[in-house]
Amino acid sequence: MKHLDGKKIFVTGGAGFIGSHLCKSLSSSTRKLTVYDNLSSGKVENVKHLPNVHFVRGDILDLKKLQSQDKADLIFHLAAQVVVPYSMENPIIDFETNARGTLNILEKARKDDAYLIFASSAAVYGNPIELPTSEEYGFHPFSCYGLSKVVGEQYCEMYSKQYGLDVAIMRFANVIGPGCHGVIHDFLEKIDKNPDKLEIIGTGLQSRDFVHVSDVIKALILSTVGKKAIGKTYNLGYGKTTKIIDLAKMIIDLLNLTSKTAITTTNVSWHGDVDTIWFNISKAKKDLNWIPKITLEDSVREIIRNWRQER
Ligand SMILES: NC(=O)c1ccc[n+]([C@@H]2O[C@H](COP(=O)([O-])OP(=O)(O)OC[C@H]3O[C@@H](n4cnc5c(N)ncnc54)[C@H](O)[C@@H]3O)[C@@H](O)[C@H]2O)c1
Repeated sequence: MKHLDGKKIFVTGGAGFIGSHLCKSLSSSTRKLTVYDNLSSGKVENVKHLPNVHFVRGDILDLKKLQSQDKADLIFHLAAQVVVPYSMENPIIDFETNARGTLNILEKARKDDAYLIFASSAAVYGNPIELPTSEEYGFHPFSCYGLSKVVGEQYCEMYSKQYGLDVAIMRFANVIGPGCHGVIHDFLEKIDKNPDKLEIIGTGLQSRDFVHVSDVIKALILSTVGKKAIGKTYNLGYGKTTKIIDLAKMIIDLLNLTSKTAITTTNVSWHGDVDTIWFNISKAKKDLNWIPKITLEDSVREIIRNWRQER
């Protein structure tokens, strides 16, 4: 990561799951790393032990505070409201954080003349009929969260076209690994409370593309090498899809509970839930020379190990 030497890096949402893994990776390569996070879901403990990190407790909606921060050369914008059902119940808060918040970060990037890397999501595709889904599929959001990410992406494109800002858009599938939230963590919590039963919300036939956080971080770092990612949009997934019921079976199996835990389904999913996430990742493979390496099974093993240690 020699190319990052001396660069001033600013990470929004750096105290969260993906952000803290990114900061861990960056902190050894730069002496100027600012983590800007309001700690609404992130934890300062995730980053405070890292070398070279300057932590600022701040909100991306606070434009004045953002503008008063030191000039950055490179900005990773990960701060967001990330919960789909919450976005359906609180569309205005979701919009404020993800759309207006992103606009504020774009303003900081414009003022600083910084390269901005924006964390977007599979949610911009909604329920795609093209599977695996490529970047060209277009916007078909199915939740307010998906729509607020579309708005963020479109502002990024506007700033790129009209102000010549260097921007790359990275759409994440389901990112997993130590400290992750989401379905794997929920299943472990449920089984811990009652090992006799694991209830899946929905039919269990919905499927997801799970990618390990360290693979995602590698792609984010690769997108800072040279200029190849500037002005581009990339899918970051593993390139495979797994039904949630098969994930549940895998977890039960790895916990040695096959003869104990019965799987049930509610058949009704939450508002805004999509059927399938399955990314075509050939563009990131080709342009960024990136290959995700860690399988779902290895990831789940690691998450279980970590989860046991933390309890
Ligand atoms: N985890 C995934 O599977 C996944 C999938 C697709 C996209 N993403 C995107 O990746 C990014 C990071 O997600 P994550 O899973 O690490 O989530 P996370 O909730 O762990 O991290 C988000 C961080 O943003 C901070 N934050 C939230 N609102 C803020 C605000 N107004 N001002 C400042 N900080 C604020 C939170 O405190 C938290 O530390 C998000 O933009 C998310 O939409 C994540």
